[in-house]
Amino acid sequence: MVHLVVIGGGVIGLSVAWRAAQRGHGVSLYDPHTARGASWVAGGMLAPVTEAWHGEESLLDLGSASLERWPSFAADLGDAGLSTAGTIVAALDQADRAELDRLAAYVAERGRDVDALTGRALRQLEPALGPAVRAGLHVPGDLSVDNRQLLSALRDASAQAGVRFAATVPEADVTVIAAGAWSGSLHPLLEKLVRPVKGEILRLEARSGALPPPTRTIRGHVEGRHVYLVPRANGLVVGATQYESGFDLHPKAGGVRDLLNDAEQLLPGITEYALTEVTAGLRPGSPDNLPLVGWLEPGVIVATGHYRNGLLLAPITADTVVALLEDEPIPPEAKAADPIRFTEGSPWK
Ligand code: GLY
Repeated sequence: MVHLVVIGGGVIGLSVAWRAAQRGHGVSLYDPHTARGASWVAGGMLAPVTEAWHGEESLLDLGSASLERWPSFAADLGDAGLSTAGTIVAALDQADRAELDRLAAYVAERGRDVDALTGRALRQLEPALGPAVRAGLHVPGDLSVDNRQLLSALRDASAQAGVRFAATVPEADVTVIAAGAWSGSLHPLLEKLVRPVKGEILRLEARSGALPPPTRTIRGHVEGRHVYLVPRANGLVVGATQYESGFDLHPKAGGVRDLLNDAEQLLPGITEYALTEVTAGLRPGSPDNLPLVGWLEPGVIVATGHYRNGLLLAPITADTVVALLEDEPIPPEAKAADPIRFTEGSPWK
């Protein structure tokens, strides 16, 4: 049995703590604001395909491997808020269509399921989609989770498995750094590797008489900006902007205006919804958009840098950290996340 302390109580820290405690390790978790931060703000997409970019094949493979673990991860947690309804990517004009064609070809090449549909066929699936939607993709395998329900389930399951929520950082055999965008200040090797990438999100609630929200996640590209709408019980999370502006957590008026404008192009009915929340969070960015999961030095594991994919990558990250603790082979797709790709040869190694 290993005594470990996990620094950071977002989705990654909680998942690591829970899975390690389930395996019989002695786990303390330290975070003055457990279950908040970027995990609290997140849209909740579990979307390796629709978040895929050319040149990021390792991330697509890692995300797909983690998504395969999601159903049993959610089932073990009980009511974790997993939705298996799938995702639609909507195109409004010819340029969007061209971008979607590239995405469809790229993911089909990698053996993933995508169907190209007309606007009409898309509106049959999701009647709330507006007339401006000309065409799109249906990606049944890209799922979503209610991030706040998940955090609450993870917190309960961790406590039940014996995780101690510590008020100060206790002595331990192994420290796991899982402090998201703040991880850079916790170890010299991470200082230049983890940076905050701000994102604003909105929460909207359907009022009586308004069109009900869609069942699937809707993504789109409007005036060069990406927007997504992720269903929640009787509402939507609309996200997200993306800026590099340090640790500033104030939502920007222009960001909120763009999100509302872009969301309305896709789902005109949301103008009747109540705007119930505007929040900003800080994604933990890494230099190559892959997370950093592995040993930093004897006694210190890092599990951060998940950038736009913290919720998606939680199951495989937790399994990888547990495998490292137990000196077992890690999932093959997680090898690409080893921080050694940046730290080899560093004076700190
Ligand atoms: N995963 C979506 C985002 O970070 O905005």
